[in-house]
Amino acid sequence: ISRKGSNLVREIHEKQSMNKSRQRFWELAGSNLGNILGVEKTADQIDADTAEVGDQGEIDFKQDAKFAQHLKKGEGVSDFAKSKTLAQQRQYLPIFSIREELLRVIRENQVIVVVGETGSGKTTQLTQYLHEVGYTNNGIVGCTQPRRVAAMSVAKRVSEEMETELGDKVGYAIRFEDVTGSNTVIKYMTDGVLLRETLKDSDLEKYRIIVMDEAHERSLSTDVLFGILKKVVARRRDFKLIVTSATLNAQKFSDFFGSVPIFHIPGRTFPVQTLYSKTPCEDYVEGAVKQAMAIHITSAPGDILIFMTGQDEIEATCYALQERMEQLASKKEAPKLLILPIYSQLPADLQAKIFENAEDGARKCIVATNIAETSLTVDGIFYVIDTGYGKIKVYNPRMGMDALQVFPVSRAAADQRAGRAGRTGPGTCYRLYTESAYLNEMLPSPVPEIQRTNLGNVVLLLKSLKIDNLLDFDFMDPPPQENILNSMYQLWVLGALNNVGDLTDIVPSVFFRPKDRVEESDAGREKFFVQESDHLTLLNVYKQWTSNNYRGDWCNDHFLHVKGLRKAREVRSQLLDILKTLKIPLTSCGLDWDVVRMAICSAYFHNSARLKGVGEYVNCRKGMPCHLHPSSALYGLGYTPDYVVYHDLILTAKEYMQCATAVEPQWLAELGPMFFSVKDSDTSMIEHKKKQKQEKTAMEEEMESLRKVEEDKERER
Ligand code: CDP
Ligand code: MG
Repeated sequence: ISRKGSNLVREIHEKQSMNKSRQRFWELAGSNLGNILGVEKTADQIDADTAEVGDQGEIDFKQDAKFAQHLKKGEGVSDFAKSKTLAQQRQYLPIFSIREELLRVIRENQVIVVVGETGSGKTTQLTQYLHEVGYTNNGIVGCTQPRRVAAMSVAKRVSEEMETELGDKVGYAIRFEDVTGSNTVIKYMTDGVLLRETLKDSDLEKYRIIVMDEAHERSLSTDVLFGILKKVVARRRDFKLIVTSATLNAQKFSDFFGSVPIFHIPGRTFPVQTLYSKTPCEDYVEGAVKQAMAIHITSAPGDILIFMTGQDEIEATCYALQERMEQLASKKEAPKLLILPIYSQLPADLQAKIFENAEDGARKCIVATNIAETSLTVDGIFYVIDTGYGKIKVYNPRMGMDALQVFPVSRAAADQRAGRAGRTGPGTCYRLYTESAYLNEMLPSPVPEIQRTNLGNVVLLLKSLKIDNLLDFDFMDPPPQENILNSMYQLWVLGALNNVGDLTDIVPSVFFRPKDRVEESDAGREKFFVQESDHLTLLNVYKQWTSNNYRGDWCNDHFLHVKGLRKAREVRSQLLDILKTLKIPLTSCGLDWDVVRMAICSAYFHNSARLKGVGEYVNCRKGMPCHLHPSSALYGLGYTPDYVVYHDLILTAKEYMQCATAVEPQWLAELGPMFFSVKDSDTSMIEHKKKQKQEKTAMEEEMESLRKVEEDKERER
């Protein structure tokens, strides 16, 4: 399927600068759009509007008219959540009807696969059932999620159902945020977090049961966890593993763990009519907007869910919908439409809005990324509009990095999307692509992340877990051997792996620290220190290497990895090539290395930290603790600077900042104004410094003019 890009997205980008449109969007998202639009319409008036608004262009959904008629009675739109207590809602879920049977199968088996439609209660109920029958008496129940948003929102929901504070009996952990406590018995977490926990505790002793949720998503971490947990299951007889999945892949999971039972939760879904576009859709944002408006004007009550690929498109779609609604409102009355975006970067309080009930008579239109495919369930959706695209992470070996790219979704994902319309009553799914594209061009199921991603981190992780031969690791779908070997080669070049493929001590570093010559090599390293900055220390090493003719023996003498330096030289020459191609003149800062620190600050202000104690910092934005590494050049300052930026956090014994540079707080405010501003007390400090500088300049000027006067006098004499 070719994608020409959305004219609407482009148009909106041109119409207003990105910032402006974003600002406008926040206003929209914050206000109740329904209020602007006023009075409700009668069915006849709505029909009269159809011809005008329902102009489908190339998309032909005419056959839907009859179906809409059938739904028009408005039956089935659920006020369920409003009218029932949480306890009653729990008992209504499909999983409740087979609770005892499910618990029996779990009791009798060490590993099982549980399959059920989205919304049947797997994520929220399973952990509670396990708790209720006493599995948490010795150990905790952990439940992994491929997405952070899901981990947080589900934990919140379950804490409400169990009437406990979030972080007490029920908690969650995502990277750099741990909301659990000593009471916690049900812990939701991202699969990445559990994977990192295996580094500290390879047998996962504190867990009695792990539920690997949404396993069908086949995230990179989930796939690695499969191999690791299979070993834990073999070593610990008291440990249980439950893998939950959409229908897809269930057999494969069962086979992987040795033909374990597959337990099906009976479905309770309604039929969904699927309608295809007759011709390929040129612009799916435009197409989706038109379709949503047509549904809104002509079809029976029921909320709409639109699948887009990412934030920009979602914003453009919401904006365009809002614009059409305003046009409509200025001409005549239109029914209310509550436009709600949802994507993972959206602040949590705005995300939560999609779960709230719309005011009476208003229709919700949720515009989402694939986050709404399986991770989040919203009741009351009767119409799904599927663009057929999604963003996935792909590794680009030429650039050596992962990038998010827009791709057609798989047939399995498309079916999952369609299913979202049939949760509350019979629904309709509008596919903005042809049936032939669905049958002939889409892949049957998504390619697992492990087969399309950079394996550098996986290799490092598995090596840290003492898995020596990676080619022997028990992958469910092994990544191409070539990818593993490529990643190992890159890590070797960086000095992270030694000649026999084992992890080196410092990963990855330019400095070489042999165990038998620790003191000597530390002293050698300190000679290169530039006290304000580890980055500048590296620059210093590079400069000196340059002036020593890039010699390998010079590196050996100074405890430096020549491979790392050669890599730096290579990257530098690539950058020079890029500058040449783009005709950007090469300039040098000379000896003014503050400029370099500022440049680093301008790129890494999101990784900035504020001094809290000796060598102890907290991230300025997220508040998580981070520490100066004992090997950092900043210790050489004699004091620790108030503000630093750092390259990365590595978690070993503590969260250590890797490669830190001291920065001035006002740089953060200047270079990262979207995150930081200078408080009054700081302002006065800056003002003070500014004044000092002005005074100094004034004084210098005065001195200069005095000198000139003297010179002139001298000459006259
Ligand atoms: O995991 P599965 O898709 O099987 O279902 P679930 O996530 O456990 O959701 C069961 C029900 O809980 C859904 O029908 C939602 O209505 C409700 N739920 C909710 O209201 N808020 C959440 N954050 C999560 C679930
Ligand atoms: Mg779930």
